[in-house]
Amino acid sequence: MAMKRVMVLTGGGDCPGLNAVIRGIVKRASQTSDWEVIGCIESFNGVLREPTEIVELTEKTVEGIQIQGGTILGTTNKGGPFAWPVKEADGSWSTADRSDEMLRKLRYMGVDAVINIGGDGSQRISLGLAKKGLNIVGVPKTIDNDLSMTDYTFGFQTAVQICTDAIDKLVTTAASHNRVFIVEVMGRDAGWIALHSAIAGGADVCLIPEIPYDINKVKAKIEQRYNRVLTGNASRRGYCIIVVAEGALPKGGSVTGTVSGEVGYQHIKLGGVGEQLAADLKAAGVEHDIRYTILGHLQRGGTPIAFDRVLATEFGVRAMEFVMEGRFGQMVAYHHPDVVGIPLEEAVREQNLVAPDSRLVHTAKGVGIEFGD
Ligand code: F6P
Repeated sequence: MAMKRVMVLTGGGDCPGLNAVIRGIVKRASQTSDWEVIGCIESFNGVLREPTEIVELTEKTVEGIQIQGGTILGTTNKGGPFAWPVKEADGSWSTADRSDEMLRKLRYMGVDAVINIGGDGSQRISLGLAKKGLNIVGVPKTIDNDLSMTDYTFGFQTAVQICTDAIDKLVTTAASHNRVFIVEVMGRDAGWIALHSAIAGGADVCLIPEIPYDINKVKAKIEQRYNRVLTGNASRRGYCIIVVAEGALPKGGSVTGTVSGEVGYQHIKLGGVGEQLAADLKAAGVEHDIRYTILGHLQRGGTPIAFDRVLATEFGVRAMEFVMEGRFGQMVAYHHPDVVGIPLEEAVREQNLVAPDSRLVHTAKGVGIEFGD
């Protein structure tokens, strides 16, 4: 019997654990004699480009890659088969739907199934292609943890660990200088990274998109931190650590970001809320020294922690098994302790956001963290 062919790709922003998923898929496939695995370079672009950019994935190719950050296949969060950037004669950019052409190409290449590893944008593409008849399985990834149908996405815990390590370091310098330190973390519309790292790092204030803040409440918390009677030498006069999610916003205000000039980029580029907050606190009358640090893409770099390697491996193995079982149009998802399949339609329906009345926010408030609400 002729071997069947599954094509794997990674789409959207990179995320620690992508390589562990790829390895899980290839290793599981190599236990059968029915399936061979190929990789498409840079999301679906490898199929859409001429000549195509496709690589063979074997046990040898994926040896030991579960410890590597990034993705051996490359990725992009621009364009895609439904919105391919096209330069017009006048130099402006528009988009073209190249999905039918891509599906024809995949048939010609003998691709029987596709595994698309990506976040909400990528899984919307998976859904669109599934509706057009492609045999596709989705694997959820994002450091933001904002996909509602899985308990966790891989990469999230690694990002939280990176932020927590950064807060631990900033505490010592904040205490030595009696400073207010603002740490800006990623997460887009979701405050998960901020909330987890604020609790783990023992922050005083945590500002997240789901709970718009009142600057005066933040100021009051800062003053409370400076008015305590402290015994430690370095922190005699007090200091304050504020974790702010990039999508956080003041009550009645809006998010801080810019419209990206990059061709095909479909989001507002969030960033700068830490600097804005520092200015607003000064304007509100905070007289202590304030410094801010933007952790940025450090949160997505480097080696995944063990939890994410395990979750990513589980997703990879199960996604390949879904392919073998013919369970298409689904996204693998973690429902502790199982990895289950969720129809793609449900998987992308809503975002996973922090509920202001959730247990974790309650816990954070229980250790004195101020949200400014
Ligand atoms: O979705 C992951 C993420 O890292 C967000 O937290 C962040 O807002 C965005 O991607 C940054 O995107 P880019 O890598 O395009 O700057």
